[in-house]
Amino acid sequence: MIETLFDEDYLRDPHSVFARLREERPVYRTATPQGVRVWVVSRYEDVKAACTDPRLSKDFTNNPDMIKSNELEGGDSSGYEAVVPHNMLFVDPPDHARLRRLVGKVFTAGRVQALRPRVEQISASLLDKVGPEFDLLHDYAVPLPAMVIGELLGIPENDWPQLIKWSNTTIEGAVLDPQVVVRAATEFTTYLAELCEARRAAPAGDLLSAMVQAQDEEGALSARELVDTAFLLTVAGHETTVHLICNGALALLRHPDQLAKLRADPGLLPAAVEEFLRYDGPVSTSTLRFTKEPVTIGGTQIPARQLVLVSFLSANRDAAQFADADRLDVTRPPGQHVAFGHGIHYCLGAPLARTEGAVAFRHLLERFPGLRLAVPEERLAWRPGLLMHGLTSLPIRTS
Ligand code: HEM
Repeated sequence: MIETLFDEDYLRDPHSVFARLREERPVYRTATPQGVRVWVVSRYEDVKAACTDPRLSKDFTNNPDMIKSNELEGGDSSGYEAVVPHNMLFVDPPDHARLRRLVGKVFTAGRVQALRPRVEQISASLLDKVGPEFDLLHDYAVPLPAMVIGELLGIPENDWPQLIKWSNTTIEGAVLDPQVVVRAATEFTTYLAELCEARRAAPAGDLLSAMVQAQDEEGALSARELVDTAFLLTVAGHETTVHLICNGALALLRHPDQLAKLRADPGLLPAAVEEFLRYDGPVSTSTLRFTKEPVTIGGTQIPARQLVLVSFLSANRDAAQFADADRLDVTRPPGQHVAFGHGIHYCLGAPLARTEGAVAFRHLLERFPGLRLAVPEERLAWRPGLLMHGLTSLPIRTS
């Protein structure tokens, strides 16, 4: 039996588990449910320091045995290894800048602002279709960002249901049957490789075509990096925003006073989106990092070649950083939270996610003055996995 922090109690209430860790064991040695040894960093200052410490690396490409070598007896790391691809999220400088620069131009605040009318349109068309009771997650929060990133990248709309299944499996990879994860990751990347080939044969003016062109003309990235970057954008572009919308909506439904404040003053919306990200953000623990040499974090020495997970969810509730950290306050001055990460891997899609979040909450508040949960709160369930903190569904009534 593998002892893991990431058990049923954690899934039900990660905030209580992290509160205890911040207090008693801020740098905690544990294992994933599949038996891979990891260190979990939970305090705000330590999380930020770890994200910018060059002795903590993400270069798994050149250290392919790093995960395997942290496997416990009886453990199986193959599922984890299958989802550590060759893209910006899993490399160090200088490769990081090379891979990030290629797509960075598309995600600037200005470019994303120009996309806003299309986000509004997609959001409105999804909400036009719902009845008096619907699943906010499946009927709205999943398709909205998927359609937006799908259009940007140039992924045919009919392929999304399959893509979402592959993506969900790879995201939950650290707790599922490794064979299932390996199969999903392989099918997913095969699909994307074929799509890249199709765009090479017939460019379509989308981001994928531009990336294929950059590969051909500038040799700016390898064939594997191209496909794995498309994989990252597909997964990161839709998995997370879903839970910004649903965790935020749930937080409001649990706090009618805050919901009333927001309805009374929609000008609070941008600050409220930041508060949703801080209070109950979509990313629980980061993707993996490893120590290149012994590193002391928060007074605990972690030996060389160990895997490290920093918890953004935990950092954002650290009372040493945020006054009354466990309280939802839509009037809290924004800034400081690390829901989008910190350092060079800071989320590339943050402007897009913020735009999608602002549009989503404005539409929900404007259209549904009587928004409420359609099931008792105890019936809500949380997704398995280490990375994501989000519900499996959110049934709501609009009156
Ligand atoms: C509310 C929504 C989102 C949240 C909370 C979020 C959060 C994060 C976090 C925490 C990281 C850093 C991970 C780490 O250090 O291990 C990250 C990286 C990244 N995110 Fe997001 N993300 C969101 C939406 C998006 C969207 C819409 C895109 C669009 C494509 C995106 C693309 C990326 C990319 C490409 C990276 C890697 C950046 C790098 O390694 O330089 N994200 N995100």
